[in-house]
Amino acid sequence: MRIIKVRDYQDMSRKAANVISAQMILKPDSVLGLATGSTPLGLYEKLVEWYGKGDLDFAQVKTVNLDEYVGLSADNDQSYRYFMNKNLFSKVNIDPKNVNIPDGTNQDAEAECERYEKVIESLGGIDIQLLGIGNNGHIGFNEPAETFMMKTHRVDLTESTIEANKRFFEDVSMVPRQAYTMGIGTIMKAKKIVMVASGKTKAPIIKEAFTGEITPRVPASVLQLHQDFTLIADEEALSLM
Ligand code: GLP
Repeated sequence: MRIIKVRDYQDMSRKAANVISAQMILKPDSVLGLATGSTPLGLYEKLVEWYGKGDLDFAQVKTVNLDEYVGLSADNDQSYRYFMNKNLFSKVNIDPKNVNIPDGTNQDAEAECERYEKVIESLGGIDIQLLGIGNNGHIGFNEPAETFMMKTHRVDLTESTIEANKRFFEDVSMVPRQAYTMGIGTIMKAKKIVMVASGKTKAPIIKEAFTGEITPRVPASVLQLHQDFTLIADEEALSLM
């Protein structure tokens, strides 16, 4: 693994956006694996800005998002599809047909997870997967567990994740209890993986995930085994390393 230490959130966002841009320039029909959460917001802003300047073209780009809440439809402003439309897709020239996100409204978990794995396979796999990290070490919504779940699956969110994500909802009771997420195997098959992390609150989990043992109890720790994994993190997030 490679660690790129940056000054602050702005610096992290710019460098991560540069890595994604390089991928898009070298391979205009790249399959981008995208993430939600507050950490990638700055890098999406940069991509939109550079698209506006004519430096980036999304015409042939394909995207697959990591996860989606079960039960939320695309027009629900807390769904990850809504987040992606608002912060990236509506602002660039991506073809909506090329956007893929698990369908939170499909209650048939088995069918939805199988469909999503097939979508990724049919695109030829993910060229570059962007990740954030949950305070408990989750990636996508792969929560700490006794074993690594390999494929796209439906997951029960942990109390700490529900707690962390309640800031986006009116009330904690409105936070969905389940999500569809790519599995650890789905993520690890990406040709390149880039994680962004910023701020003091992420320092303990960054240390545990990347200097500790590889265990499904800290899902992000598995990334130590990926052949092309880059962590772009600011000084605060790396302060305990
Ligand atoms: C959610 C998402 C993750 C994300 C995490 C951290 O749980 N499913 O993909 O990495 O939040 O979010 P933030 O970047 O807001 O700390």
